[in-house]
Amino acid sequence: MPATVIVGLQWGDEGKGKTTDFLAEQVAMVVRYQGGDNAGHTVVLGDEVFKLRLVPSGVLYPHITSLIGNGVVVNPATLIGELDMLAERGIDTARVRVSRSAHVIMPYHIALDRAMENRLAGEKVGTTGRGIGPTYADRALRIGLRMEDLLDADGFRHKLERILPDKNDILVRRHGLEPFDAERLLDEAMAWGERLRPHLADTTWLVQDALRRGDHVLLEGAQGTLLDLDHGSYPFVTSSNPIAGGACTGGGIGPLQVDEVIGVMKAYSTRVGSGPYPTELTDEVGRGIAERGREYGTVTGRPRRVGWFDAVPLRYAVAVNSVSSIMLNKLDILSGIDEIRLCVAYEIDGRRVEAWPSSADLLARAVPIYERFPGWREEIHGIRSIGDLPEQARRYVAALEEHAGVPIILVSVGPERTQTIERAFRPMRWRPALAGPPGAGPAASAAGPAEAGAAGE
Ligand code: GDP
Ligand code: IMO
Ligand code: MG
Repeated sequence: MPATVIVGLQWGDEGKGKTTDFLAEQVAMVVRYQGGDNAGHTVVLGDEVFKLRLVPSGVLYPHITSLIGNGVVVNPATLIGELDMLAERGIDTARVRVSRSAHVIMPYHIALDRAMENRLAGEKVGTTGRGIGPTYADRALRIGLRMEDLLDADGFRHKLERILPDKNDILVRRHGLEPFDAERLLDEAMAWGERLRPHLADTTWLVQDALRRGDHVLLEGAQGTLLDLDHGSYPFVTSSNPIAGGACTGGGIGPLQVDEVIGVMKAYSTRVGSGPYPTELTDEVGRGIAERGREYGTVTGRPRRVGWFDAVPLRYAVAVNSVSSIMLNKLDILSGIDEIRLCVAYEIDGRRVEAWPSSADLLARAVPIYERFPGWREEIHGIRSIGDLPEQARRYVAALEEHAGVPIILVSVGPERTQTIERAFRPMRWRPALAGPPGAGPAASAAGPAEAGAAGE
């Protein structure tokens, strides 16, 4: 039975929460594999809206085991608050498990994240201020505290006594802030440990046992490919690997255990925080999309920057994630726009560029080259079949699919679980090197992403 990775193909907020919830009905387990409470995943069920930051979006189904994998950085206070919120709303959280190896976001990580951003002044990354970068940095430096440390007071004190003087030194001397008190941190951490003790587990074995039993496992990414530490426009990225490969390191599975990678994207683009964004709209059209799409950050409440869909990074994202199929969200938000634009290439320093440039400097100079599509006026929330979409909407979806080079299998026309158009064809194990069978959908016929990328500069 398959392991399916769900990965954001843009700058996050593509609707991964909706996608995971939609697909979770048929699976036994959902695993979050990276990021922390910088994520905000929204699931809408009837009139109820759930905003999840750490617990995987499958938690609303009673039959699902929800795992927070070793690749996640956990703010225990956020997690406890989320478990309480879910329990108050009648959701069973008994089957939520957190990796003992996941790293703990400590209060000094949050203080350092915010202090470092302040010092960057005009060059801020625009982080969510949740301590994500400093926690992953300590993990790499091998001075991080892990969830299992919350269960061992003596061990925790010993480690904290080694780490805290350096942290306080930076906070006090560099940033003029108050130092943290070791005993108070210890008390807080032990209280977190007591509360979370029943949820801590070796999640890698839970995933491996599930796959061996033949259960279907979903792996839910946070953020998106263009915020990936290695593949986004560094340094305007997050500090983990949202790409599908991150599901292996952060979820506890091997590459050959992944059968399917479902990319999630929305019908336009948004970005929160700083960094180059060639298709950004700062006019009335952009404001209209932001308003209709309610584009405000789930975590920070910041307005999201809005722009046209950009097929240049899409082709890169399909390749680097080995995307086998796509869910397209928020098509309904484009109703009522006279002319829709789709960026197909850039002009950089007078040259046409079709391959996503890895350099933020190059990207900052990119001028989008657009294809234009006539829009449609009708509301489409009630449509459940591709054939019933307005002709103009179908043409736009077909163009997106052609650029992706893999099939769009699901189209979402509203936030609610049922506001979804399903197409029958769902390929697994798409391999760029192999030609598909004749007539097996756009993956077989369109120029593959490898080819499209190579057309490049
Ligand atoms: P995530 O971080 O990728 O899970 O995405 P967010 O939850 O941060 O942002 C997506 C927002 O769009 C949420 O408010 C969803 O409820 C909403 N949403 C998802 N799909 C659709 C859709 O097809 N149409 C509309 N109108 N809203 C959607
Ligand atoms: P979901 O999972 C959108 C952005 C921040 C900032 C950069 C680094 O809901 O899609 P960080 O706090 O991670 O160090 O900030 O990454 N960012 C997100 N943008 N959606 C998210 O999560 C994000 N998580 C982080 O705005 O630009
Ligand atoms: Mg979000």
